[in-house]
Amino acid sequence: SVAGIPAEVPGPNRTQNRQLSPAPAQRDGFTNTPDTDPSLAANREWADGIRSRMVASTLGDDTVAANTLSTAAEVSERIAAGVAAGEAWRALGAAGRAEILHRAGDVLEARRAELLEVMGSEAGKVIEQGDPEVSEAIDFAHYYAESAKKLADVDGAVMHPVGLTVVTPPWNFPVAIPAGSTLAALATGSPVIIKPARQARRSGAVMIEALWEAGVPRDVLQYVQLDGRELGERLISDPAVERVILTGGYETAELFRSFRPDLPLLAETSGKNAIIVTPSADFDLAAKDVAYSAFGHAGQKCSAASLVVLVGSAAHSERFRRQLVDAVRSYEVGAPEDGTTRIGPLIGPAEGKLRSALTELHPGQSWLLEPEKLDDAGQLWRPGIREGVVRGSEFHRVEYFGPVLGIMTASSLNEAIDIVNDIDYGLTSGIHSLDEDEIQQWLATIQAGNVYVNRGTTGAIVQRQPFGGWKKAAVGAGSKAGGPNYLVGLSEWTDAETTT
Ligand code: ALA
Repeated sequence: SVAGIPAEVPGPNRTQNRQLSPAPAQRDGFTNTPDTDPSLAANREWADGIRSRMVASTLGDDTVAANTLSTAAEVSERIAAGVAAGEAWRALGAAGRAEILHRAGDVLEARRAELLEVMGSEAGKVIEQGDPEVSEAIDFAHYYAESAKKLADVDGAVMHPVGLTVVTPPWNFPVAIPAGSTLAALATGSPVIIKPARQARRSGAVMIEALWEAGVPRDVLQYVQLDGRELGERLISDPAVERVILTGGYETAELFRSFRPDLPLLAETSGKNAIIVTPSADFDLAAKDVAYSAFGHAGQKCSAASLVVLVGSAAHSERFRRQLVDAVRSYEVGAPEDGTTRIGPLIGPAEGKLRSALTELHPGQSWLLEPEKLDDAGQLWRPGIREGVVRGSEFHRVEYFGPVLGIMTASSLNEAIDIVNDIDYGLTSGIHSLDEDEIQQWLATIQAGNVYVNRGTTGAIVQRQPFGGWKKAAVGAGSKAGGPNYLVGLSEWTDAETTT
């Protein structure tokens, strides 16, 4: 999907006063849910309150404790319960389920503060990053509710749920991604077992509690944590599991496949994303977008920009570099409960390839901005920007998932596009250019699922920028989250004549 808003979609009002005007229930078509407007004093007080509760937060603990499975027999029981509950959920029909999903959107909105508290407390997510994530989760609820109703109405075809769906989301978007996968499967009529990432298990639990509160039956939507990897294998390998929706590393998709070669897997995996900046670009805007795309949530997004490719005379632009460094230096690094923090801690100490990327230069490279470790554990880092990344080197190809950006140069736009297409993953990609021919050339040839013109590469908005990858960034996919075809990929279809 191309960034930008289709003419028929009304402009978004993405901010509002959380204190004074709760979001309206969205029953009539689909409207994106507004984020919280930080320019309003009442909203800043609201956010201060959330931050003051982060450190001691125990939200989600009870659900985690009550649903941590430790034996294979418990896993089998959960699978059987899910299968048994599926029939009544299917029989409810798309409209009946949509009512519950719309209510889920409203409960998620009502619990926005709790979701922000638990994400900050457990996963280091600052409110500025978490707030749009909650909006996205709410958008998924309303969007998939309406989407399923539309698909149920397609002439000459009947949509069927695939059946028991296992959802294994990541820790970096601990609310929006589990919510999106779960709500999509539920909208089609499939029962779900969700196992949130261990590092974000309480955030997943609070999100699921909201869906239960909205009326999704507990056997239709089961929350689990698993004591031990064998139990994960047990869960995924069970033939009663009809679909697995994974968002995580490419290696995890491979691991799942090794458990069960015929696994019906829908996976959104790794990314190694670049923004090309041409000489015609607005360098100030480009610098700001690159900084945010690279270092929002400390670079821990599959959609993050890990490379910037400067084309032609842009390769020598002092202005771009100065603006980029200024923008990055303006991001305070610290604890999420501190109101001045823009970049929180990494989910764990920087280790392995990320640690090397933050500490070692290769021949010919230099730091435009040297990363700085701020704590003993190695979780808090001032971001780094390295010059001199060359084609074919490790930094060109490897995903680091942390606060480090590489600068590459190309003599022409063609060469820059080749450099980007040479990467195995094709998730997001950006161009900053004010030249229409350059933009068209790039759009026609760039290999990425989400392509953004004069915009950052993160923060896809439901319906406006359906999200999904290409090449190694997607396994068994072909449809994009938050887009019109996502539910099609989670359903089976028959001709109306043969089933009526
Ligand atoms: N959907 C998330 C984004 O666009 C990953 O940043």
